[in-house]
Amino acid sequence: MNSKVTVVGAGNVGSVVANEVALGGYADVVLLDIVEGMPQGKALDMMQAGPIDGYDATVTGANDYAETAGSDVVVITSGVARKPGMSRDDLLKTNMGIVKSVTESVVAQSPDAVLIIVANPLDAMCHVAYDAAGLPKERVIGMAGVLDSARFRTFVAMELGVSIADVQALVLGGHGDTMVPLPRYTTVGGVPITELMSEEQITALSERTANGGAEIVSLLKTGSAYYAPGAAAAQMAEAIIHDRNRVLPASVLLEGEYGVDGLYVGVPVKLGAGGVKQIYTLTLTDDEQKMLDHSASAVRGLVDAMAALG
Ligand code: LAC
Repeated sequence: MNSKVTVVGAGNVGSVVANEVALGGYADVVLLDIVEGMPQGKALDMMQAGPIDGYDATVTGANDYAETAGSDVVVITSGVARKPGMSRDDLLKTNMGIVKSVTESVVAQSPDAVLIIVANPLDAMCHVAYDAAGLPKERVIGMAGVLDSARFRTFVAMELGVSIADVQALVLGGHGDTMVPLPRYTTVGGVPITELMSEEQITALSERTANGGAEIVSLLKTGSAYYAPGAAAAQMAEAIIHDRNRVLPASVLLEGEYGVDGLYVGVPVKLGAGGVKQIYTLTLTDDEQKMLDHSASAVRGLVDAMAALG
């Protein structure tokens, strides 16, 4: 039997996730949305790309959670996207309600699934999903670090005029303006960028990374990024389905690691069958730790705000 990946939310991000998983050919895909006809139409369209792209994966559009039963991985992209001038945090209240009810419906059908949360504000929505799912923390994971690191990698490659194939980057912290790009752990062909660029250049690229989502929102004017976010979630799904033991940054529930307790924050993890197999704790400089603390306190602020909203 093929593996099964459900993508909840057939908007831009969900559609890219579904398409990337289908292109990977490693799982059948169910694309679910509350809008009738739309996920079915997109699914049929993707099926018809199969003969061209050479994949046999079945892509099914659905409005009913029964069709998602027995999924190995469920990617939750539901929620409203940011509009220009709107912060990820403005989305808090609306997306809280959506993510809670989606998570409950998903877990009722697929109690053994690993959940990848993509809805914003990301780290806060991981808390909502974790509370609603009743699953072990290893199986409720947020997608942000792969995207944020990919943005940093892109900017580094553009700045130095090198292939992205040789650029590795690490971004820690919450998926917000306080995220923490780590230049010491960002390398080109194994050489830290601190050896290759001035401090000013690194600061500019770090700031552009932290504002990476907002930069795209301001260009698109009617929505937020979806190609890179979708590709990032699909990469995590693939790591889990194929038990790849990939080392990728993701938002996970920290319980003392990095001095953070009871909060979802982005850190490097080992990702494979069953979700998070290990959390890597890096030695940080005082400045890096301060930035991570600041980022964690921004997530804490959202979690407290959600508690106040009920
Ligand atoms: C971004 C949104 C998806 O960073 O959070 O583009």
